[in-house]
Amino acid sequence: MSIGRNKITIVGSGNVGATAAHWAVTRELGDVVLVDIVEGVPQGKGLDLYEATPVVGSDCKILGTNNYQDTKDSDVVVITAGSPRKPGMSRDDLLNINTKIVKAVTEQVVKYSPNCILIVVSNPLDAMTWVAKEVSGFSKNRVLGMAGVLDTARFRTFIAEATSTSVEDIQTLVLGGHGDDMVPFPRLTTVGGIPLEELLSKDKIQALVARARSGGAEIVNHLKTGSAFYAPGASVIQMVEAILKDKKRILPCACYLEGEYGLKGIYLGVPAKLGARGVEKVIEFKLTADEKQALEKSASSVKDLIQRIQL
Ligand code: LAC
Repeated sequence: MSIGRNKITIVGSGNVGATAAHWAVTRELGDVVLVDIVEGVPQGKGLDLYEATPVVGSDCKILGTNNYQDTKDSDVVVITAGSPRKPGMSRDDLLNINTKIVKAVTEQVVKYSPNCILIVVSNPLDAMTWVAKEVSGFSKNRVLGMAGVLDTARFRTFIAEATSTSVEDIQTLVLGGHGDDMVPFPRLTTVGGIPLEELLSKDKIQALVARARSGGAEIVNHLKTGSAFYAPGASVIQMVEAILKDKKRILPCACYLEGEYGLKGIYLGVPAKLGARGVEKVIEFKLTADEKQALEKSASSVKDLIQRIQL
């Protein structure tokens, strides 16, 4: 970590990137560089956000730029660049176009911040995180993807609403790929420590599971011209915070697997301990037969995507 303030680079000044910058500044996590190839947008949004800092009382500098030199020696780099989903598109439809973008971005990032921790947000998430690892050559603890925190946040929101309880009291887990066959874990879901299965009927829980799994598409269908950004932005910044503050939080993240859960050579959402070294540990626990099958199905979708990538 650098002396003085942390330096966070966010690549992509679209809705997700700008919103992530907003959450980072609100939480006073460090100086933020917002970088994009589009001229004017990162500069305008960056300056606008900088001018909000006296009002919210946050001593962070925000710089919007088209020049990767400005990202030099970042502690954490968040990659949001890429094409978002449109209605009717799956995340996987973005594979080819976003592979090129994530590859080009990663090369620039690594050139200026060879010691950073890289968090990928671009879709299809697990495959794009794999691209960033391949291209960067970084060790697996320094390249991870944001998805489980978002998918979990959606599930928590729906559970809190259904049980009329605080979102803060909902603990749950959504693992697997950030795709249509992600794996929510009702068995491990609690409301203030009480198992969800004691509070809601099986049918109600299944309806919440289904809604969480298609949570991204629900937003796309509303927005029509793009995908979600408030919850994705907040989610990635929770991961950034866990790393910069060395919190050792256990959060579901896309991590590179080398035998954990019986899977190898792919990125997949699993519980991870996040601290100053990035992914400090992938936490394994015993799955039921059904859960194992669901996780393997999700993993095989991710594997298929990775096999189609041409770097
Ligand atoms: C979502 C997109 C960003 O889940 O993957 O909203």
